[in-house]
Amino acid sequence: MPAERCVAFAPGRVNLIGEHTDYNEGLSLPFAISEGVTVTATRRAGDEIEAHALDLGEQDRFAAAAPERVTGWRAFVRGAVAELAGAGHVVPAARLEITGTLPRGAGLSSSAALEVALCLALLGLGGEDDPDRIALAQLCSRIERDWVGAQTGLLDQLASLLGEDRHALRIDFRSLEVVTVPLQVAGWTLAVADSGQAHSIAESGYNERRAECAHAAQRLGLTSLRDADADAARGLPAPLDRRALHVIEENARVDAMVAALNAADPVAAARLLDASHASLRDLYEVSTPAVERAVDELKALGAAGARVIGGGFGGMILALLPPGVPVPDGAWAVRPGAGARLVELDA
Ligand code: GLA
Repeated sequence: MPAERCVAFAPGRVNLIGEHTDYNEGLSLPFAISEGVTVTATRRAGDEIEAHALDLGEQDRFAAAAPERVTGWRAFVRGAVAELAGAGHVVPAARLEITGTLPRGAGLSSSAALEVALCLALLGLGGEDDPDRIALAQLCSRIERDWVGAQTGLLDQLASLLGEDRHALRIDFRSLEVVTVPLQVAGWTLAVADSGQAHSIAESGYNERRAECAHAAQRLGLTSLRDADADAARGLPAPLDRRALHVIEENARVDAMVAALNAADPVAAARLLDASHASLRDLYEVSTPAVERAVDELKALGAAGARVIGGGFGGMILALLPPGVPVPDGAWAVRPGAGARLVELDA
């Protein structure tokens, strides 16, 4: 039933391991966190969408039927309205209020949280309170690709939409099969810390990495790097050889991490975080001096393993801290929480 008011919350995510694998039909192991974005949608008269980014003190207003292109946070709102309408959903005229608890542009998927919360709130207002979550993740990723200019995979959107309390999600991006894995770290703590360098996917080398992977797969005669073999990858010209090897080895690390979690073996988990970081730095080349400094600092403060998460080129570092090691100043502990949801729906 169409509603008068709908409040939706979508969480950000931390990717435990499996970085830059989603757009290569590979594997990842993210979890949703408790910080996220809340969108309150209220019906309004007329045919316009009025959006308020409360944390920024900024507004937008546009015709629901024909959003024009803009940049910044407004591109997400306009993209959400256009993509929902384009997929055949009813998008009523609405006032949208956006607020969040996630640092923006820090690698915790503030973008996906924004897209997902906007879509859930608008769908709820239009009377669809239980949309197909895989299709919605795909729609949200189109917002990012076609309206924001970041050709991301589905990692962030699926993590936000399908997150489960106390579990990580093993996602197979070829079949889109999602298996929940209890996140057991036996009294150890997962914490994130900012590298101090803001990252923007649309403006970083992200799209270039994605193109390199497509090129590497093509040279190997494959549709994606999922089926690539390490020996064949080593025969590719540089830097395609390094990119392909990262993807092959990172996929294997996802299943090694699932095994470490199932065995409640945080020492093995920490080693895998370090190996993933070394690969992101040396083979995939998405680290920066600020990221390296932050990783070194966390290790010096007692982290058993640490790595850059998300797209890289700045953003957040994930650290695994043994019992007795306090969460460093400026970092905060993260644990898996529930996925995106409607918080209120008023007829
Ligand atoms: C960003 C993108 C994701 C994924 C990661 C790297 O977070 O949005 O789709 O590609 O980078 O793993």
